[in-house]
Amino acid sequence: MKILIKNNDEKMSKEAAKIIINQINIKSNSVIGFATGGTPLGLYKELIIAYNEDNLDFTQMITFNLDEYVGLPKSHEQSYNKFMWDNLFNHINVKKENVNIPDGMVSDPEGFCKEYEKKIEEVGGIDIQILGIGRNGHIAFNEPGSEFDSRTRVVRLTEETIKDNSIFFEDIHDVPTKAITMGLGTIMEARKIILLARGNNKSDAINKLLNGLVTKEAPATVLKNHKNVTIIIDKEAAE
Ligand code: GLP
Repeated sequence: MKILIKNNDEKMSKEAAKIIINQINIKSNSVIGFATGGTPLGLYKELIIAYNEDNLDFTQMITFNLDEYVGLPKSHEQSYNKFMWDNLFNHINVKKENVNIPDGMVSDPEGFCKEYEKKIEEVGGIDIQILGIGRNGHIAFNEPGSEFDSRTRVVRLTEETIKDNSIFFEDIHDVPTKAITMGLGTIMEARKIILLARGNNKSDAINKLLNGLVTKEAPATVLKNHKNVTIIIDKEAAE
């Protein structure tokens, strides 16, 4: 694992953006796995700047998002679908048909998840997967206890995650209790992984990832078994 400690969010975002921009320059039809949450927002701003100022072309890029809440329509303020369009996709020239985000409203979630996996396989797998990390060490919505070989599936969120994510909802009872998430096995098949974390509320999860044993109780520790992971964190998360 390569670990980069940066002074602030802007420097973290620029470092991560450099890797993505380089990838798109080398292979215009790269398959990029995107993540939601506050942490990658700076990175998405940098990608928008690269599009506006350096004419970076995203028309061939294929995207797969990590997760989505079950029960939220795409138009919902807190859906991850809306998050991605508002914060990145609407501001670059990505093609709508190349964007893949789990749909939390499907009537057959199991079938949908199988299809999602098949689509990733059909385009040759994910070149770079971007990840954040939950305070409990989750990646995407793979909560503690998730199997290392898990695939895209419906999961139940822990109380801790529901509480953490409730800041974005009017009432904690509005937070969905289930989500569709790529599995740890799915994520581990990405050829390259970038994990971003900032703030001292992530330092415990980062400590376990860097210094702890590989255990299902801290799902991100599975990344120790991956050959090409870059961890970009700020000073607070590194404490
Ligand atoms: C959610 C997402 C994760 C994300 C995490 C941390 O639970 N499912 O993919 O990494 O939040 O979010 P933040 O970056 O806002 O701390």
